[in-house]
Amino acid sequence: MTSIILDVDTGIDDALAIATAARSDSIDLVACTVVWGNVDVEQGARNTSQILALAGRADVPVAVGAAGPYGGGDAWYSAHVHGADGQGGCADLDHVPALADESAVETILRASHAVQDLELVAVGPLTNLALALDADPTLPERIRQVTVMGGAVLRRGNVSEFAEANIHHDPEAAARVLEAAWEVTLVGLDVTTSSIITDDMRARLAAGDALGRQLARMLDGYMDFYEPLLGMRAALNHDAVALGIATGLVRTTRSPLATVTVDCSDGPERGRTRATLELVDGAWRDEPEARHRVVLEVGYGFEEQMVEL
Ligand code: BDR
Ligand code: CA
Repeated sequence: MTSIILDVDTGIDDALAIATAARSDSIDLVACTVVWGNVDVEQGARNTSQILALAGRADVPVAVGAAGPYGGGDAWYSAHVHGADGQGGCADLDHVPALADESAVETILRASHAVQDLELVAVGPLTNLALALDADPTLPERIRQVTVMGGAVLRRGNVSEFAEANIHHDPEAAARVLEAAWEVTLVGLDVTTSSIITDDMRARLAAGDALGRQLARMLDGYMDFYEPLLGMRAALNHDAVALGIATGLVRTTRSPLATVTVDCSDGPERGRTRATLELVDGAWRDEPEARHRVVLEVGYGFEEQMVEL
């Protein structure tokens, strides 16, 4: 059983990750902390609370976090991908969110003391984690591992030629998290772009319970965005891949140790992640003493399990 806090900017693929974590017997979902990103943080919290309620997991605390970048400047959202409500126009506007009394940072810090072997799984901009590190620099001593959906090391980005959305939203926060003294597994576009939710899987969700029907409705809008990019009616499953790797639902088959840095310049490469990867005799070398695991290949098939949960 892996105990996790899932840090989300609930979006459609975040909703799939939340649903998977909420329903899996092998995951102890300690809390969801919410960050700005795909939508504003209040809408993200409403969406998170709604998915947990549909999953029968209203017991999981939802804590509201940062409303804008650690690095300063204005928040900006991804309505063109996830819809203005982050749920492809399907968020239940009547849902009254049940929110924790404490903030995201307070939740992370309190749980780091209370929960043995706590892991953080971050699938939005890294603002909450950076703020938690500022609030208590000893936090890494009490966290078993951090898994991040973010970055693109060998592939091109998705918001610019170089940068992936979660890192690009807040490069300074990502740099703060990568520089801290904890182990970070980076699950970037290098692998998440190969994890596909097909229209057949969407149909199976639609034939399921209230949670499945809600996920299927929002996937319909998500597939409108992805269809021209993928050449088929399907969608990318980014966030649940990171969740799966953190909790053992997805096996990594190539994930060398390296050091990852983030471009925090104001130039065209802002938000780019660079890793000290080195191929030696056709195999990726583990960098001695490095703290970042860069996931380059995973075993697939997990998407089929997800839709059955
Ligand atoms: C990431 O960006 C967000 O839009 C998704 O939810 C995912 O976390 C993919 O680049
Ligand atoms: Ca996300």
